Amino acid sequence: STGPAFDSNCMTLTRFVLEEQRRVPTATGDLTQLLNSIQTAVKAVSSAVRKAGIAKLYGIAGTQNVQGEEVKKLDVLANELFINMLSSSFTTCMLISEENESVIEIETEKQGKYIVCFDPLDGSSNIDCLVSIGSIFGIYKKIEGKSSPTLQDALQPGNKMVAAGYALYGSATMMVLSIGGAVNGFTLDPAIGEFVLTDIDIKVPKRGNIISINEGYSYMWDEAIKEYVNSKKDPKNGKPYGARYVGSMVADVHRTLKYGGIFMYPATYASPKGKLRLLYECCPMAYILTHADGLASNGATPILDIVPESIHQRSPIFLGSRDDVEDVLLLIKKYR
Ligand code: AHM
Ligand code: MG
Repeated sequence: STGPAFDSNCMTLTRFVLEEQRRVPTATGDLTQLLNSIQTAVKAVSSAVRKAGIAKLYGIAGTQNVQGEEVKKLDVLANELFINMLSSSFTTCMLISEENESVIEIETEKQGKYIVCFDPLDGSSNIDCLVSIGSIFGIYKKIEGKSSPTLQDALQPGNKMVAAGYALYGSATMMVLSIGGAVNGFTLDPAIGEFVLTDIDIKVPKRGNIISINEGYSYMWDEAIKEYVNSKKDPKNGKPYGARYVGSMVADVHRTLKYGGIFMYPATYASPKGKLRLLYECCPMAYILTHADGLASNGATPILDIVPESIHQRSPIFLGSRDDVEDVLLLIKKYR
């Protein structure tokens, strides 16, 4: 026969999660259901990011829709989608969103055992100029033996996560996920509206040649960071590293995962705890990189070992290829 082959047996994300969970004797199917609700939110966000249905939203011209209302901001829409899909999944009891100051408690009749921390649309500065943005999520289980969830359930260290991942709205939409094991990447095929397994068992190279940091803040860095960045640019130390910084954590981390190298958002004089949030930015990304044989540290402690004190707390972060992260950690130690 002629024409391209059509895979009638492709591995979708839904199918993959079902099969993985089937192998866990104690699994009830709740995590599968939860991941399906995240998948639905991500598909809807992806469609909105790609401006599908733009004519309906905007009318012929302008920033108002046909009803004469302001068009809803993408980050607000993404947050509503995540909250609505997760709270109607009957699998969660508490949600922590970058967009909501307090925890969101799910009504008792709809409660399940999981806690989800998420940043529904990260990379706010890149939304309006159409540069890659993403969604990040980390999933915890309610601490056993308690009936209703408390703040304590939301403040568990990253190493207690049962699954984590992100969606990248880049030149294609991809979901990267680990359920405690290998890291796999699924590309959204818009033709069938399904995520298809394309990147199997992703491992970050042991060393890379890319450095990713906002160098505009170099006047506020510690000596260790200054020395590290300079050493990677100095031809005396070998071929200098390439510099790449999108300014969207998901894009910068995904490139680091695929190509290797290091992504950093250190503390500065202005923000002594860094900028990025521990619960829904640093921890899920650290979980992915760690399961891909990489490293993620705040400079002194592995990100996943930090016990959070508040839901929106910030942390410095150094993440990526094992050898590259070790290099910067050595320098930090030297200056301490
Ligand atoms: P946001 O939550 O307002 O989108 O900020 C988070 C973003 C990350 O995606 C990115 O890594 C970082 O902020 C970039 O910050 P800066 O512009 O200070 O370099
Ligand atoms: Mg964010």
